[in-house]
Amino acid sequence: MKHAGAWNMLTAAVCMALLGCLQAQELQGHVSVILLGATGDLARKYLWQGLFQLYLEEAGKGHSFRFHGTALTSTKQGQEVIAKVLESLSCPRDTAPGRCAELKAQFQQLSEYRRLKTPEDYLALSKDIEARVQHEGLQEVGRIFYFSVPPFAYAEIARSISSSCRPGPGAWLRVVLEKPFGHDHRSAQQLAAELGSFFQEEEMYRVDHYLGKQVVAQILPFRDQNRKALDGLWNRHHVERVEIIMKETVDAEGRTSFYEEYGVIGDVLQNHLTEILMLVAMELPLNLSSSEAVLEHKLQAFRALRGLQRGSAVVGQYQAYRGQVRRELQKPDSFHSLTPTFAGVLVHIDNLRWEGVPFILMSGKALDERVGYVRILFKDQAYCAQSEKRWVPAQSHCLPQQIIFYIGHGELGGPAVLVSRNLFRPSLPSASWKEVEGQPGLRLFGRPLSDYYAYSPVREQDAYSILISRIFHRRKDSFITMENLLASWVFWTPLLDSLAHEVPRLYPGGAENGHLLDFEFSGSHLSFSQPPLEQLVLGPDSAPMPSDFQVLRAKYRGSPLISAWPEELIARLAGDIEAAAVQAVKRFGKFHLALSGGSSPVALFQQLAMGHYGFPWAHTHLWLVDERCVPLWDPESNFQGLQAHLLQHVRVPYYNVHPMPVHRRQRLCAEEDQGAQAYAEEISTLVTNSSFDLVLLGMGTDGHTASLFPQSPVGLDGKQLVVLTTSPSSPHRRMSLSLPVINRAHKVAVLVMGRMKREIAMLVSRVGREPRKWPISGVLPDSGQLVWYMDYDAFLG
Ligand code: BG6
Repeated sequence: MKHAGAWNMLTAAVCMALLGCLQAQELQGHVSVILLGATGDLARKYLWQGLFQLYLEEAGKGHSFRFHGTALTSTKQGQEVIAKVLESLSCPRDTAPGRCAELKAQFQQLSEYRRLKTPEDYLALSKDIEARVQHEGLQEVGRIFYFSVPPFAYAEIARSISSSCRPGPGAWLRVVLEKPFGHDHRSAQQLAAELGSFFQEEEMYRVDHYLGKQVVAQILPFRDQNRKALDGLWNRHHVERVEIIMKETVDAEGRTSFYEEYGVIGDVLQNHLTEILMLVAMELPLNLSSSEAVLEHKLQAFRALRGLQRGSAVVGQYQAYRGQVRRELQKPDSFHSLTPTFAGVLVHIDNLRWEGVPFILMSGKALDERVGYVRILFKDQAYCAQSEKRWVPAQSHCLPQQIIFYIGHGELGGPAVLVSRNLFRPSLPSASWKEVEGQPGLRLFGRPLSDYYAYSPVREQDAYSILISRIFHRRKDSFITMENLLASWVFWTPLLDSLAHEVPRLYPGGAENGHLLDFEFSGSHLSFSQPPLEQLVLGPDSAPMPSDFQVLRAKYRGSPLISAWPEELIARLAGDIEAAAVQAVKRFGKFHLALSGGSSPVALFQQLAMGHYGFPWAHTHLWLVDERCVPLWDPESNFQGLQAHLLQHVRVPYYNVHPMPVHRRQRLCAEEDQGAQAYAEEISTLVTNSSFDLVLLGMGTDGHTASLFPQSPVGLDGKQLVVLTTSPSSPHRRMSLSLPVINRAHKVAVLVMGRMKREIAMLVSRVGREPRKWPISGVLPDSGQLVWYMDYDAFLG
């Protein structure tokens, strides 16, 4: 046995040595690095330093290098810039000054500047590389092209490389691309297709420099190395919430032409913060070194993300931004930018691990401090019988329990991983992470630093240096694949669309922001904690404030009208529905409520879900007023909206929920499947007289209500309770309650919100009963009551 062990060890050692040789052999040879945009900001600040670092790490291992800085700048000017940059490079801290000067001189010798503009220039570069390699008796192993240029230049450069500057057979090509990769799903797809016509996916390295930050790169290894401690903790039963934050003090001055197109969501949330979110949320692959497994698990997590809605985010814009845009982009004084420079977003992940756990993503310019971190706060499920003064940080379960991946800056001033001492002592690779020295008086996230096990990198390294080394070593898992990129845009694009016309909250910038940008959440909804400072109605000094209005009572089309600011209106409607429910249950033992879909009722559903504890849900039957002919799990389904914003938060017995049968026998609203008839039967059987206790309707800008449209005069009269109709907008096919069954209800509430409804509200106020032209005008309960609920925007404009 003893011999067998020794033999195994020997075999392993030989294999390791052989593997080392093989790897070295594979890499040995000449590598050309072509830095495009070599005189630009990013290159001057980070990339040249990263290339120098690569040279220091790899040159002694049998490879030869040449660094070609290129740009459109003339040769003389470019050479001058590059010479200055090369002069300012720094060596690792422990390098003696003489040795450093020597290393820099060697690197300078290997670096050159050349103008690269036309396909001929690329061909000439290729020929030069080949000639040098031949002349020096070397073997070319590969070329790295680093695109540090704006995305509009990508396609042309890609074409020139692909046609005139690819290395010969046997040598590899790697192209490195910097974000932004598109500004929405469609543009990202286009860019991907374009680049895909020149390069193989395997040849492309899409950089998200946050993946090179030491702490971010440590998230998965940390989860892996601490599996035992984390296995039971990393889930919805224990995690209270997760915060993924990147605050900046700088603003966008000098970059507004870029920023106007991307805003904070495209600039930071869609990429940096989303990538971090994935590293925290994804299932951990068994083998972390398999890039494929990591990517597959990441994509699975993307698929579990709950779709974002308008109410999932709050957005702001620092006050000086508007002026900077006007100046830099030469816009007139009347120009108002709606680009957010601040965003807070609430994300939910609908899988068994994370269901119900809020993930808060937040970033902004012109904030009070510069800091980045991920904070995982655990639930406090303990009660401590002893008084607080006797609590011991390492033992007390009543102190906060948190894990913080501190990306950098802030009070701590650098990257670190912090774990509350009352959780567990984490394991980190001791060669590269050391315990942080105590800093008396320093408090982080409400606790003194001494309450945490805290580790920081032994040697701090810049993200770009790390990523450049990973490109060289073909570590694809530190880069964004096309699938990953598109999955992220699929997630963010609907929110960007819904925010396109939203006016962001203005904030003064810096410490003066006070609590103006604080936000809070309830369910899936996020809102600022404080009312806005600016006036809601632009105009003379005397513009009214919300508090100046009482709930307005009037008549509209001869029926009672209630008008208020949206929040008050919704609260009032929710209160009225609850009162009707309580009354119906008292008298008949049950309450039949038919609800519309779409966006207006979302706030109402949330209000009912969160604020009405006396609601008799156990005795309430929920019906749908109308439905789109899509499967019930489709995000466009009205039932989905009801499920997401109401059903999952309240306790309605399953058998009291009555979705419309639009999807029968794997078909959508096929006449022969008789879905409408089946729903009508269900209504007649369960609802006395087919008279709902309350029907909630909306009003479309064309005067439609439920799914009864002017263009499709079905269901306006006759005996049918439920009909199939056609909508002018997609999805076209619908199922709807008919006007006669609506008018049989004891009470009908019509909710109308937003300035877009102003015109139709005016028109409908004047017309008679003409349901063929305006189906809403046919709503008038036979013996029940009709009440209109309109917000001021819809009613007063
Ligand atoms: C970039 C954004 O990707 O990241 C910038 O375009 C932002 O707007 C920067 O300032 C922040 O990166 P870091 O490394 O300074 O935190």
